Amino acid sequence: MSTIPRIGDPAPDFTANSTQGPLTFSEWQNGKWVVFFSHPADFTPVCTTELAEFSRRAPAFEALNTRLLGLSIDSVHSHLAWLESIESKMGIEVPFPMLADIDTKVAQAYGMIHPGESSTVTVRAVFVIDPSRTVRALIYYPLSNGRNIDEILRLVESLQTAAANGIATPANWRPGDKVIVPPTTTVAARKARLADATLEHVAPYMALKSV
Ligand code: BEZ
Repeated sequence: MSTIPRIGDPAPDFTANSTQGPLTFSEWQNGKWVVFFSHPADFTPVCTTELAEFSRRAPAFEALNTRLLGLSIDSVHSHLAWLESIESKMGIEVPFPMLADIDTKVAQAYGMIHPGESSTVTVRAVFVIDPSRTVRALIYYPLSNGRNIDEILRLVESLQTAAANGIATPANWRPGDKVIVPPTTTVAARKARLADATLEHVAPYMALKSV
């Protein structure tokens, strides 16, 4: 049984073949954030819509210093034929590498195979990995439901904003919205916090600010 790397764990390193040549994750990452996702299989409709949407939004991920990396338990030959089909049928070029993982080595290391769902293909997993190769968030969807790529983009921006400013983000946060200041833990800090007129005080335990 494979384990799932959890939030705060190091993302497992690996070397595998991809549509852009052999790839060693730690070298390829090159100090950037990474969205590493799996899909069940090439030439399937939901996966095709996801790949098209990741490709369409690739410039927005790049603007966030974030690299995209896909994986399925398919060969590089299958990946190449699928990418050619997406380009010819939809006019969309997939600009990021797709990992071939026929021996399931990488899928096992990331806990991407959930036997209760399918023992032969990867589920729709997403790992957001920071520049120090630490897992910052993970999302799992079943085979039947395509992911919201705009939400993954929003999550990356939210994680980067939290990391850069030592804050938290509220539900449905969008870039430009106010963020949440960490709660105080002493009487003195609470009094100082309440006296800070630059903050929006919603409740004694909730203060907002702009970043
Ligand atoms: C799909 O991408 O359409 C798909 C893949 C595997 C199982 C079900 C749907």
